[in-house]
Amino acid sequence: MSTTTPSGGEDAAIAESLAERLIESLLPGLELLSIEFGRRLGLYEGLVHLGDATAGELAAHARIDARMTREWLEQQATAGFLTVDGASAPAEERRFRLPAAHRPVFLDPDHPAYAIGAGTMFAGTASAFDDVVDAARTGTGVRYGAFGTGVRHGLEQLNRPGYVNDLEDWVAALPDVYERLRDGGRILDLGAGTGWSSIALARAFPQSTVVTVDLDPASVAEAEALVEAQGLADRVLVRRANATVPEDFEGVSGDGFDLVTVFEALHDMNEPAAALRVARDLLRPVGAVLIGDEKVADAFTPDGDFLDRLNYAFSVLHCLPATMAEGERTANGTVLRPSTVGDWAAQAGFASSTVLPIEHPLWRFYRLDP
Ligand SMILES: C[S@@+](CC[C@H](N)C(=O)[O-])C[C@H]1O[C@@H](n2cnc3c(N)ncnc32)[C@H](O)[C@@H]1O
Repeated sequence: MSTTTPSGGEDAAIAESLAERLIESLLPGLELLSIEFGRRLGLYEGLVHLGDATAGELAAHARIDARMTREWLEQQATAGFLTVDGASAPAEERRFRLPAAHRPVFLDPDHPAYAIGAGTMFAGTASAFDDVVDAARTGTGVRYGAFGTGVRHGLEQLNRPGYVNDLEDWVAALPDVYERLRDGGRILDLGAGTGWSSIALARAFPQSTVVTVDLDPASVAEAEALVEAQGLADRVLVRRANATVPEDFEGVSGDGFDLVTVFEALHDMNEPAAALRVARDLLRPVGAVLIGDEKVADAFTPDGDFLDRLNYAFSVLHCLPATMAEGERTANGTVLRPSTVGDWAAQAGFASSTVLPIEHPLWRFYRLDP
């Protein structure tokens, strides 16, 4: 007879450990929502404006309820996001501050450490949860727009620092294309959302023009306003269109593009190979496609790493239903494997698909050549 722990005992220990993991998972989720609470109510800006503040002072500044403000301040200090002077003083007298080192994370949208979008994205994903559950019953999907400002702005917040700080370097990994764009070329940015990648491209290549395409009407409206506000409307043309329908890139497909970019959007398209075919058809003979998409494992791996777990969770709760709502053709979901990109590129008629040596914490980059 075995002298090791009977399987019942092992199973009980495994169950206990898994239960602990689930209970502990409540905390990061709730803390992300508490950050989104502070963002929406302007409480981080308010604290910086005031320098430090009691609950009453911050509530008066933000014009919100003082009791709720006090609870949020204490929660944020407990979580380590804020510091507090006079912790043992009466609650009304405690003074809270956002430490200087935490400010870029919450308040500087161009800073590489800007990460408040994690809370915005989490809240946005959860906002359509009931629809996602219903969509699993009906198979109809959930439109991208139904996830509202949470997902749209969460993505914008999370991706903007990369575009603003690094996108030029990503293009420099295609040296031939980079040189042509410096002299003045044409760029097509597919699935560009609210347009920050296009803005960054236009700034990096002041002699070049950019055509920005996205399917989501709300994203396109915001991209148009942003391009106008940045004074780039003469060089960045925004179009609401499906990437597979070039006729809708009104007046822009004339003499071809030197670069087509698709950042974190190829996996969302319901006809990705057709979209790549359009990109190929619109490229000048010496042009190339640059794709940035999720850095997942090469193959399905149970007990996956952080990136596979993160992307599968987004896939179930957002990307897959959003793609299915476009009409189910290829419903890939968030988990875009390198081999899948290679297959789609081959179907689209590209001669080669190469993974580029670009460092990014979340994405892998591909160059496709016609
Ligand atoms: C994950 S978001 C990324 C947006 C943007 N690239 C960014 O980094 O913020 C994916 C985008 O692809 C767009 N999209 C999905 N299917 C599309 C299609 N068939 N044609 C054009 N855009 C599409 C969505 O509307 C959405 O804005």
